[in-house]
Parts: sequence; C-alpha cells; structure tokens
Amino acid sequence: QEKMLMNLYDTFMTAKRLVVMTGAGVSAESGIATFRGDQDSYWSRFDPYQLASAEGFIEAPQRVWDWYQWRRSQVGAAQPNAAHYGLAELAQSVPLFLITQNVDGLHHRAGSQQVCELHGRLMMNRCFNPSCGYREDAIDFSAPLITCPRCQSAYLRPDVVWFGESLSASSIQQSEAATTECDVFVSIGTSAQVYPAAGFAQIAAASGAQLIEINPEATALTSQVDWVIAEPAGKVFEGLRSLLK
Ligand code: APR
Repeated sequence: QEKMLMNLYDTFMTAKRLVVMTGAGVSAESGIATFRGDQDSYWSRFDPYQLASAEGFIEAPQRVWDWYQWRRSQVGAAQPNAAHYGLAELAQSVPLFLITQNVDGLHHRAGSQQVCELHGRLMMNRCFNPSCGYREDAIDFSAPLITCPRCQSAYLRPDVVWFGESLSASSIQQSEAATTECDVFVSIGTSAQVYPAAGFAQIAAASGAQLIEINPEATALTSQVDWVIAEPAGKVFEGLRSLLK
C-alpha cells in the first residue's frame, strides 16, 4: 500500500500535464449514491428515462422536479471527501485539468478552481426553453416547480444534461484538447459507460498518455489502462495526503 502510494505520488508529481476524470464513485464516500452497481444506486431504484430525460420531464414535471429537489437535499447535506480535497491540493503543485461527470459540485466545495462539469450543475436551475437562457442558483430545496420568471413560457428545470441531450460543445472541446495533450490520464470512480466522457481515455491512450484507473470494481476501461488501483478513491487520497504533508 505504502509503495503503491509512493509510486502514485511520483507519477502525479512528475506528470507534465495531468488529466483527471471523475464519476459518481468519487462522491460515494461522501454518502452520495452512484448511478449503477450496488442496490442503492440511483438507476437500480429509479427509472432514468422517467427522471433524467426531457421526455420524462414533459410527461411528469412535478415528479422530476421533486426527485431533483430530493437529490439536492442529499448533496447539500454531504461533505467533500479526501479524494475531492486531494485533487484540489494536487492542482496547486502540478498542471491538472479536472473533468467531472458529477453534478454535485463537491469538487468546487473542496477548493478545485477549474472544473469541467460535463453534465452540468445540480445546484442550478435553467428555463426549459433553450432559447430563453434564464439561469439561477438552486437555493431552496423545498421550492415548488415554477414557470420561468423571465419568459413565463416554460418550467424551470435542473441545469444538468439529461439522457438524449447533448453536452456543451465547449466542454467537449476543452476536455478533448486537454486529453490529447496530457501525459497522464486518471479515471476515478466511473463505470465508463456513458459517452462522450467514456471516450476520453481512448483519446489519451492514442496520444501516448499513461492511463490509471482508481475504482474498487472493474469497468469497461479496466482492460485498457496501464495501472489499476482497485481501492476506494477517498482511501487512496487519504494515504496520498499524508505523504503530501
Ligand atoms: N471510489 C472509487 N470508485 C467507486 C467508489 C469509491 N469509493 N464507489 C463506487 N465506485 C465506482 C463504481 O465501482 C462504479 O464503477 O464508481 C463507479 C460509478 O459508476 P456509475 O454509477 O455508473 O457513475 P458514472 O460512471 O459517474 O455515471 C456516468 O451516467 O447516469 C449518468 O449522468 C449520469 O454522470 C452520470 C453518468
């Protein structure tokens, strides 16, 4: 364990350009459910197409709104863990481009300055009508479903990317550019099943980067990475942070 941590520390500190991509697993030790895998993951309890798609929202806006307000209360009560803090600290010492699929905002709360939030932000609302563009912070997790205060022509919705929706072109462009130029790419806490996020590791590999995966379980990526650390992310960064002290 000690030797592994020393090697990982060296790899991080000698990287010319580090890209880290995180998924729901990095927030698991903060008590936030992941989407797949164990029985209390979101998609083993809820139907993603009912709750995380524009069609589902149009069919039953109140049900979707309530579910996101519930998720906000979960996230609001959670704290970043050692992995979030460790990544924020690491970025002080080496060039680190952080990509996350998570919408929980815990990387920001842990102090990360630059975070590419591919799938949006849970703690923001926006008008469902894309041409309106109204946005606001989601502050009151018990606020009712309302129509957009600006255009009055559509409901407010969470500012997240739903299934079937496209990511912002700039998020994809920035992530692909950083991944093409990195020499070390670290995938943390993602099952690597959702694209385009799951494709960045291939871009990194094609650019000759060293691929590292931190995940207690095997994933779609495991067979392609150079180094698998089958440990919980918080535990790994707990160990790294004690070395960094
Ligand atoms: N440390 C590291 N990894 C962990 C931990 C942990 N403590 N606990 C669980 N994991 C791993 C699981 O083994 C799994 O591989 O985290 C991964 C979580 O996978 P998913 O639940 O599929 O989450 P993610 O890959 O982020 O999902 C991608 O799918 O539903 C959409 O938009 C949603 O952003 C999400 C996307």
